[in-house]
Amino acid sequence: MTTLPTTLRKTALITGASSGIGKALAFEFAKDGYDVVLAARSIEKMKSLANELHSHFKVNVIVISADLEINGGATTLHADIKARGIRLNALVNNAGYGTFGEFKNSSLTAELSMMKLNMEAVVVLTRLCLPDLLATKGKLLNVASTAAFQPGPYMAVYCATKSFVLSFTEAIACELEDTGVEVTAFCPGPTASGFQEKAELGNSALIKGKKLPTSEYVAKLGYRAMQRGQRVYIPGFINWVMAQSMRFTPRNLATKVVKIMIKPI
Ligand SMILES: NC(=O)c1ccc[n+]([C@@H]2O[C@H](COP(=O)([O-])OP(=O)(O)OC[C@H]3O[C@@H](n4cnc5c(N)ncnc54)[C@H](OP(=O)(O)O)[C@@H]3O)[C@@H](O)[C@H]2O)c1
Repeated sequence: MTTLPTTLRKTALITGASSGIGKALAFEFAKDGYDVVLAARSIEKMKSLANELHSHFKVNVIVISADLEINGGATTLHADIKARGIRLNALVNNAGYGTFGEFKNSSLTAELSMMKLNMEAVVVLTRLCLPDLLATKGKLLNVASTAAFQPGPYMAVYCATKSFVLSFTEAIACELEDTGVEVTAFCPGPTASGFQEKAELGNSALIKGKKLPTSEYVAKLGYRAMQRGQRVYIPGFINWVMAQSMRFTPRNLATKVVKIMIKPI
C-alpha cells in the first residue's frame, strides 16, 4: 500500500470509536486511507485499535481520551485537536448510548447525562468542526437511529435524543447545500454492539432471541452512504419499511406498536 504525502492526507474524527459501530467506522475510514482521530473514554481499547489500524492500513492514528457527557467535554476535545494542528476532512458524531425502562423509575441524572452526550456533544462538535469541514469540503456523519422516527415507550428519552439528531442533521444538511460539505444522518436499527449491555436491554422484546447484524456490517453500509452523500440512510430493508410506515400511521397507534416492540418480556 502506498502512503500519500502528509499534505494530501485526509483526517477523520470519530467519537465513540472504542467499540461497536464507531470502532467499525474507524476501520472503514482507515481502509479508505484516512488518518483517524479516535475519541472516547476507554484509552486501552483505542490504543489497541490504533495499533491494528496502523499496521493494517499504514495510516496515522491519534487516540484522545474524551468524556463527552461532562460539561466542556466536547469543547476540550476540539481544543485538543486544534492544539495538535489537525485539520479535519470528516467528523463522525457516533458516541452515544441508550437508557431502558419505565420513565417513572428512571434516574434523572442518567437521563440528563445521556442527553448531554447524544445531543449537546453532537451540536458542539458539529459547530466547532464546521470551519474545517467547509474549508476541506468534508463530510459529516451523525449517527441517529431508527429510534428517531417515532416516540419510544420504555426508551422515551433515548428515542427523543435520536429524533433530535435526525432533525438537526437534516436541517443543517439543507443549510449546507452547495458548500461542498456532505451531511448524512445514519439511522441503524438494532445492531450487535456494546449498546445492549450498556442499556440493560437484555429482556426487551426489541432484541430478546433476535439475531442482530454486526457493527462491522452496519458501519460498512453507513460509510458507503456517507461517501455517496446520502442525507438520511437507514440500513436494512425491514428497518427502512418500518421507518417509512411511521409516516402514514396515526402517531398514537405507532407509539403503541413501538411499546409492544420494546417492552420488557
Ligand atoms: N447498537 C444499536 O442497536 C444502535 C442502533 C441505532 C443507533 N445506535 C447508535 O450508534 C452509536 C454507537 O453505539 P454502539 O451501538 O456502537 O454502542 P457501543 O458499542 O456501546 O459504543 C458506544 C461508544 O460511545 C462511547 N461513549 C459512551 N459514553 C461516552 C462518553 N461519555 N464520552 C465519550 N464517548 C462515550 C463508548 O466509548 P467509551 O465507553 O470508551 O467512552 C463507545 O465507544 C450510538 O450513538 C447509538 O445510539 C446504536
